[in-house]
Amino acid sequence: MSLSSFYPLIRAGLFKMEPEDAHAASISALKLGLAPACGMTPHPCLRVNVAGLNFANPLGMAAGYDKNAEAAVGVFKMGFGAVEVGTITPLPQAGNPKPRVFRLIDDEALINRLGFNNHGLEVVCARIAAEKKNYKGVLGINIGANKDSADRINDYVIGARAMLPLADYLTINISSPNTPGLRDLQGVQFLDDLLARVLDVRAAGASSTPIFLKIAPDMALADVDDVLRIAQSRGIDGLIVSNTTIARPDTLKSPNTAQTGGLSGAPLFAPSTAMLAQCYTRLEGKLPLIGVGGILSGRDALAKIQAGASLIQLYTGLIYKGPALVGDILDTLAQHCQRNGYASIAQAVGKDVAAHAQAL
Ligand code: FNR
Repeated sequence: MSLSSFYPLIRAGLFKMEPEDAHAASISALKLGLAPACGMTPHPCLRVNVAGLNFANPLGMAAGYDKNAEAAVGVFKMGFGAVEVGTITPLPQAGNPKPRVFRLIDDEALINRLGFNNHGLEVVCARIAAEKKNYKGVLGINIGANKDSADRINDYVIGARAMLPLADYLTINISSPNTPGLRDLQGVQFLDDLLARVLDVRAAGASSTPIFLKIAPDMALADVDDVLRIAQSRGIDGLIVSNTTIARPDTLKSPNTAQTGGLSGAPLFAPSTAMLAQCYTRLEGKLPLIGVGGILSGRDALAKIQAGASLIQLYTGLIYKGPALVGDILDTLAQHCQRNGYASIAQAVGKDVAAHAQAL
């Protein structure tokens, strides 16, 4: 029996559990080495170099799945070229009261308001330092600020100092909707100050670790222009587009639609891809983009790349489609290269940007 024919049974079991319990069960399974390995032979055309890093393929696990870097070895085994752990805050944090993750099954979506529940820098740093030799791919570390911090920008400085030496790339996450006021850091003055200070940390350590900035899909285009300008002027190496949305598209059918939090999964595909395409058009290739939001098939993954993503990430799709989704995506991308005579999937980046940019 193939993995894809098996998953509906596993999913039925997991969906009987509370979403957070199902998540914890999957992390435990991966920690025990029960990673469903992607059967695909690595394809040379999927290798990409982005921001000076070599990825075996462009598909990464998005932040939020392995918040505490407990299961990264297993996630790499599933076939991902990169794993982004976190968000990690300087101090451990419990997050918001439960329940705080909701399935929107008919919409193939989730709403979460976890609020950066995580074990904190000290514990996660030690874990990564001990495990890093076993990671078979690129490790991204995503950092954030504690909810009760008196100086949120300083939290990113603390995070960068601790994590830059361990990360293959660092992500500055200012786009979670679940820490009140966090997204204000996307405002011009805060953002400029924040990036200047984090990049100072990198310069002081003579480090060349790439630093990516993760943005929300809900920004007005005029604000996007500011963010892109500041990111470039401060020397950010790439932009992750996007985090979850606070919007609720009219198409949503599920009873949980009214829950507060960030929406991810299928309904996020169109808005996050439109934002991605807008960023690609505005940047004219000056910064690489990582496309995230609503990838549930190989077709979606290819569309993200054609809208301007040099790398892609997913999370919610894995819950609805299971681990076979990884192999499906890699197969689709490799076949696309073959059909078009591309030596590299990088040749597909931005090929269809105009169609996606119009959607916003
Ligand atoms: C997330 N996401 C997220 N992002 C981030 O930068 N830090 C985080 O801690 C989390 N936590 C988190 C928890 C849960 C339960 C979900 C579903 C998502 C956002 C995630 O990385 C991604 O940007 C969005 O989920 C969109 O991608 P998908 O899920 O539609 O593929």
